[in-house]
Amino acid sequence: MRGLPRPVILIRCRMNLSSNIVVLTGAGISADSGVPTFRDSGGIWAKYDYREVATPEGYAANPALVHEFYNLRRAGLKEVKPNPAHKALAQLEEAMAEAGGSLTLVTQNVDDLHERGGSKSVLHMHGELTKVCCTACGDVRAWLHDLSLKTECPVCRALGTLRPHIVWFGEMPMLMDEIAEAIAVADQFVSIGTSGSVYPAAGFVSEARSLGIPCMEINLKPSENAYLFDTAFYGPAAEQVPLWLDRLRSSGSR
Ligand code: APR
Repeated sequence: MRGLPRPVILIRCRMNLSSNIVVLTGAGISADSGVPTFRDSGGIWAKYDYREVATPEGYAANPALVHEFYNLRRAGLKEVKPNPAHKALAQLEEAMAEAGGSLTLVTQNVDDLHERGGSKSVLHMHGELTKVCCTACGDVRAWLHDLSLKTECPVCRALGTLRPHIVWFGEMPMLMDEIAEAIAVADQFVSIGTSGSVYPAAGFVSEARSLGIPCMEINLKPSENAYLFDTAFYGPAAEQVPLWLDRLRSSGSR
C-alpha cells in the first residue's frame, strides 16, 4: 500500500574519541594568548578599515600600507604563545588518532598558535601570516620577515611581488573541498571562538545541521548564529576547551 514516505530516523553514536569531529576555530581561541580579535570592542576592525588593508583593491591602491599592517601582525606572533585551548586541541588530535577517530581542525586564524600548540594538521582556510605568495610566479613559501615593495621573490627575482598568503575579503577561501568532505562524514561539528559573521565559515554549522550532525558552540558569548547549535558552552576558550576535552575523555557523551 502506498502511503506517506517513511520518516528518516537518524541514529548517531555517542560522541567519543573514536568519532569523527570537525572543529572550526576563530579569533576567540587566540584571544586568551593576547592576539586581538576582529569585531570585539577594541578589535582589529575598530582600528583599521578592512577595505584598505584586507581587500585586493586596498592592496592595489596602497600596498605599502597593507605590508605595514601584516608586518606588524607577523612580528606580533613572536610576542604570543599558545594557550590551553590550542594545547587541548592538539591533545585531542592525538587521542582521537590513537582511538581510531579523527579530528579535522579548520581555522580562520592566520596565526600559527595551533601548530605551536602541537596540532599536526591544521586547515588554514584564510591563509597564514607566516607564508607569502608571489603574484608574478605563484610561489608560496614560509616567510617570517617583513615585506616591502623592495622585497625580491627568491624564485623569479621580481621586485615587490610578494604578498601575504592571506585570503582577503572578496577572495576565495582555501581548502573548501577538503573541509566539505570532512563535514560530510563528521559525527559532530564544533565551533570555537568565532562570531559567525563571515561566510563561508559561518555557514558550516548550517551545512552540518542539514546532514543531521550535532553541532556545539564554545564561545565567550553567544555568536551571531548561536541559535543553530544544539549545545553551547560559554566562557573563555582557554577554560572551556580543556573542559570539553575532559568530558570527551571521561564520559564520551558530548
Ligand atoms: N574565548 C572564546 N571566545 C572569545 C574570547 C575568548 N577568550 N574572546 C572573544 N571571543 C569570541 C567573541 O565573542 C567573538 O564571538 O570570539 C569571537 C571573535 O569574533 P571575530 O572577531 O569576528 O573573529 P572571527 O569570527 O574569527 O572572524 C572571522 O573575519 O575579518 C575576518 O578574516 C578575518 O578570520 C577572520 C574572520
